[in-house]
Amino acid sequence: MKAPLLALPLILAIGCHNPATTCPEAATSLRPAAPLEASVDPVARAQTHPMPTAQPTELPGIHNILHLGSHIVSGGEPMGRESLATLAELGIKTILSVDGKVPDAASASEQGMRYVHIPIQYSGIDEVSLAQIAKTFRELEGPFFVHCFHGKHRGPAAAAVGRLVLDGISRDQAMAEMHQWCGTSLKYVGLFQTIGLQEMPSLESTAALDFDFPAAHTFAGFRGTMIPMARSWDEIKFARKRDWALNPAKPDIVPAQEALQLSQIFASCLEQSDLPADTEEVRGWLQDGQQGTSDLARILSGQNELGAKGEDWRAQAESAYRVVSKSCKDCHTQYRN
Ligand code: HEC
Repeated sequence: MKAPLLALPLILAIGCHNPATTCPEAATSLRPAAPLEASVDPVARAQTHPMPTAQPTELPGIHNILHLGSHIVSGGEPMGRESLATLAELGIKTILSVDGKVPDAASASEQGMRYVHIPIQYSGIDEVSLAQIAKTFRELEGPFFVHCFHGKHRGPAAAAVGRLVLDGISRDQAMAEMHQWCGTSLKYVGLFQTIGLQEMPSLESTAALDFDFPAAHTFAGFRGTMIPMARSWDEIKFARKRDWALNPAKPDIVPAQEALQLSQIFASCLEQSDLPADTEEVRGWLQDGQQGTSDLARILSGQNELGAKGEDWRAQAESAYRVVSKSCKDCHTQYRN
């Protein structure tokens, strides 16, 4: 039911490969809207700019899909080959990932799509990445699928850059699409500042930029550990929603084992030499995460003195879960967002 509705705007968009010259909608792409005055609160505008409502849709292996105009689709990370095949069927030509994880460019290429990997941060898009993203939209073939991990914060911000440089929409609309359509949280003020207040790179500057659209940007060190951490934590969040029961669709994921694995990721994180800050507080959060996940593993597998789960194992699992969740949030509030 959802797929045909979704396919329509994309099919219409095919043949519009060089929007700067062939798409009427993109005629304004030469001059993206000027930034709003510095006194404007971009977060307030993102909430109040009047917009028609739009609901995210789902495809097999892809969450939170939003069509932003006819050249750009925003969504979560495509999970598995089937999801890439779906994107190819929809006519997508270029996939832009702004998440930290190295994408599966080879599989995308088998489907005739090009992957570009430009990881950005939650605190806002830095100038170099902004120019690279603008260049990608201006010079590679669309339609574009733009994603981060969940398709809610960084991905929609990168898609908004495309909306500004390719489709010529207003700053207010670009920010409102992020928040009101894609669900970008208002706590990521830096992302709204980029889209609302930052000068977009000129056509001349992106034409002159030396950037060859790499398909893989690899992170070592601390940030490198955050990528498997996020994916493992997602499995645990889903397991909690299912009351810790196995998911028949993913029988290889056993919540207790996943928790143990995450505890090992926290341990390896503690060994990195590039922690966000070398303080007791930072180490404390990582230790809490490690302890909370190893407690969770023990509780879920019923490894206690009785050799079985105690009566109150659910409450125990919940409190271990909260310890971990708090450690992620506290550290991100201070050092990431
Ligand atoms: C000790 C602090 C700390 C803890 C604890 C922590 N993080 Fe992070 N996380 C960071 C910082 C700092 C960054 C940004 C790194 C950068 O951009 O260089 C980050 C980045 C991330 C990213 C973005 C990675 C990317 O794609 O670029 C995700 C997702 C993430 N963390 C998830 C988690 C989850 C889930 C947890 C808990 C299970 C967690 N983090 C625990 C500090 C922390």
